[in-house]
Amino acid sequence: MHKVLIIGAGGVGGVVTQKCAQAPDVFNEIVLASRTPAKCEAIKARIARPIETAQVDADNTAELVTLIRNVKPSLIINVALPYQDLTIMDACLETGVNYLDTANYEPPDEARFCYKWQWDYHDRFKERGIMALLGCGFDPGVTNVFCAHAAQQHFDEMHDIDIMDCNAGDHGHPFATNFNPEINIREITQRGKYYQDGQWIETEPLSVHKTFDFPQIGPRQMYLMYHEEEESLVKNFPSIKRIRFWMTFSREYLTHLRVLQNVGMTGIDPVRFEGHDIVPLKFLKALLPDPSTLGAGYQGKTCIGCMIKGVKNGQSRKYYIYNICDHAQCYREVNAQAVSYTTGVPAMIGARLMLSGQWSGKGVFNVEEFDPRPFMDSLNKYGLPWQEIFLEP
Ligand SMILES: NC(=O)c1ccc[n+]([C@@H]2O[C@H](COP(=O)([O-])OP(=O)(O)OC[C@H]3O[C@@H](n4cnc5c(N)ncnc54)[C@H](OP(=O)(O)O)[C@@H]3O)[C@@H](O)[C@H]2O)c1
Repeated sequence: MHKVLIIGAGGVGGVVTQKCAQAPDVFNEIVLASRTPAKCEAIKARIARPIETAQVDADNTAELVTLIRNVKPSLIINVALPYQDLTIMDACLETGVNYLDTANYEPPDEARFCYKWQWDYHDRFKERGIMALLGCGFDPGVTNVFCAHAAQQHFDEMHDIDIMDCNAGDHGHPFATNFNPEINIREITQRGKYYQDGQWIETEPLSVHKTFDFPQIGPRQMYLMYHEEEESLVKNFPSIKRIRFWMTFSREYLTHLRVLQNVGMTGIDPVRFEGHDIVPLKFLKALLPDPSTLGAGYQGKTCIGCMIKGVKNGQSRKYYIYNICDHAQCYREVNAQAVSYTTGVPAMIGARLMLSGQWSGKGVFNVEEFDPRPFMDSLNKYGLPWQEIFLEP
């Protein structure tokens, strides 16, 4: 019997909860907790089988510990915000419960994400006899599993990886982000960074770009950014000589972003306004559409995958693996757009593999450290089928 506690009732939380509810063989009992109870209730109302809901401030470890002791889950799926990763991991250590998330920790007052903070929990999780699975969304998450699959099935050594994330969908809003606006804009406005020949090379934000012809979508301009899976993939596959991450943006999106940046609306330092301290980016988040409401009428597809170059049996090899996801199809299934869907489904799959014991360990792990086969099979089964092709090296 397994009970799962899902924390965070946003766009991703809605998908994870519904996908877990579709698999009662593993997820026998589900509790959804978040800061705003009404959001948990709205998700609960969409699910045919009974689930429990609870209110929690996940910034508060003591409150989390009380909730966990009441609920007694086997696993916590953290789909709140990256700011809550460490408080939830602390509560897991105190209560001896396993942990999974989709985004690595970043401090609220500094737009800088890296795995060190969470990797530093490894020995404590190991001593406590529990497991943490980090970054189990799509990117990071499936992209890491794609690389593990490529390393296991198709390469003796992987040398060059380009992770390419294209959202060619149209939600009908002049400007909206597909996941939490605050986290998304912090990520996109950071300096770019990529790894080459043992060094991290920084670039001006969104200054490096090129065109790629995405399957079923066509040519799109994509921009080099830093993304967290680069850090763990370089660590876990030491043969990598270069790894880069690319994301597509429309001209409309970039124009809005530039204007917002130029007028200071993306800043994270508080500004004194009429007697109150206001963080401009948090205020902007309050004005922008909630990502969980974007699904209705969203048209088009996402295509996220990895282009990998390396060698097999002494021969050069070039290989592309990707998933296509359709916004309208996701909405029909779970009332969500494809970015929430492509994050929530892998979180459910990772949780399933942990609870069934197919992925097990004591300590803190990234997804590429486990056998990719059951995860790859589950992607096909639970709504994210993948394609792979070999190209002329
Ligand atoms: N790996 C990937 O591929 C990937 C892709 C997209 C997103 N993500 C990650 O997925 C996570 C969720 O994204 P989303 O789009 O679902 O965001 P969202 O719609 O903003 O939802 C976040 C949820 O967390 C809740 N929350 C925030 N602070 C909390 C706190 N202190 N205590 C309890 N609950 C709290 C929010 O509650 P309120 O409603 O009260 O604010 C909201 O329900 C983010 O960490 C994001 O970075 C990962």
